Amino acid sequence: MSETPRKRLLGPEDAGDLPERVVSPEDTLEDEVYGASLRPRTFADYVGQERVVENLRIAIDAARRREESLDHVLFYGPPGLGKTTLAGLIARELGANFRPTSGPTLEKPKDLVGILTSLEEGDVLFIDEIHRLGRVVEEFLYPAMEDFQIDFVVDRGAYAKTIKLPLKRFTLVGATTRAGMLTAPLRERFGIVHHLDYYDVDELERIVTRSASVLGVPTDADGARTIARRSRGTPRIANRLLRRVRDFAEVRAAGHITAEVAAEALAREGVDELGLDRLDRAFLRTVIEQYGGGPVGIAAIAATLTEDAETLEDVVEPYLLKAGFVVRTASGRKATPEAYRHLAIDGGGTAGARQERLL
Ligand SMILES: Nc1ncnc2c1ncn2[C@@H]1O[C@H](COP(=O)(O)OP(=O)(O)OP(=O)(O)O)[C@@H](O)[C@H]1O
Ligand SMILES: [Mg+2]
Repeated sequence: MSETPRKRLLGPEDAGDLPERVVSPEDTLEDEVYGASLRPRTFADYVGQERVVENLRIAIDAARRREESLDHVLFYGPPGLGKTTLAGLIARELGANFRPTSGPTLEKPKDLVGILTSLEEGDVLFIDEIHRLGRVVEEFLYPAMEDFQIDFVVDRGAYAKTIKLPLKRFTLVGATTRAGMLTAPLRERFGIVHHLDYYDVDELERIVTRSASVLGVPTDADGARTIARRSRGTPRIANRLLRRVRDFAEVRAAGHITAEVAAEALAREGVDELGLDRLDRAFLRTVIEQYGGGPVGIAAIAATLTEDAETLEDVVEPYLLKAGFVVRTASGRKATPEAYRHLAIDGGGTAGARQERLL
């Protein structure tokens, strides 16, 4: 079989098949297994998102003083930034049970009703991926959130009657990466809504330093910073990269993480100084080399890379946009001069300048 365009576009240093992405922001089984020990146990351990944490602490304090349940809370933002962690911290701080579930597992109203009726006073019900709740299930949630009761109809026709079943007062914490996919009635039932944003390098360095100490890996400040810079603003990625670097350091550097060890370990994983991996670079190369820097539609990029357009939109593009390597225009994606520079390809500066004159 001839070489696929995707392989060709990977460039000399990236030849070969694409491995599983070490920089994916999504949860993996490995993250689940190791994540538990690295997850902050108190608000004091939770790095960054100061405004969000401050507001939550005030709301929690007020609810406790009034001996009321906390208002329902909605967190939205990209994967791996600490939504689930915060939900758990809220329960802990309230001294309440944490009852996690997720949108896709609540298929039928029966699934939800079972959970709701088993809640104790003040419990925190956490619904992850809340944008994926089915319509009917969602409608059961409205009276539960608003009046702490569920309404359901028994019998049919002339004998039909609505039964109201009271619930204990609980706090619903919802999390979603797609706030835009929530229906307005659901969104409006949350009293506290917070957006979680990407972390800066200083914050990620603190997270890496803390995780390294939990894992018992001696790590220089420069070593932690080297990992932080490559973590794409995302704590989950920072922790994952730290584990990879630790493996390498154990074999090659007597377990000690320095800047050099971290840089070499991550270069071996295909992760460059700014946290881009092979697929990111292939995406940029496609736009630049196949489509003259763009604008080009996502479907065309996907076809060239033999990737799924949705995957590119969900897992590749967000970081390239955020890091300023790609811009979205009405007519498609364009590579920025930074992308040309980063890949050491000539022409970005002039292409950018010419484009600006046209605008
Ligand atoms: N502010 C933080 N301080 C320290 N560690 C953090 C912080 N936020 C997240 N983490 C770490 O990152 C990991 C991922 O966080 P978490 O699972 O809460 O993300 P999430 O936003 O729920 O992601 P998803 O959208 O995929 O569900 C946690 O296990 C934790 O170790
Ligand atoms: Mg989560």
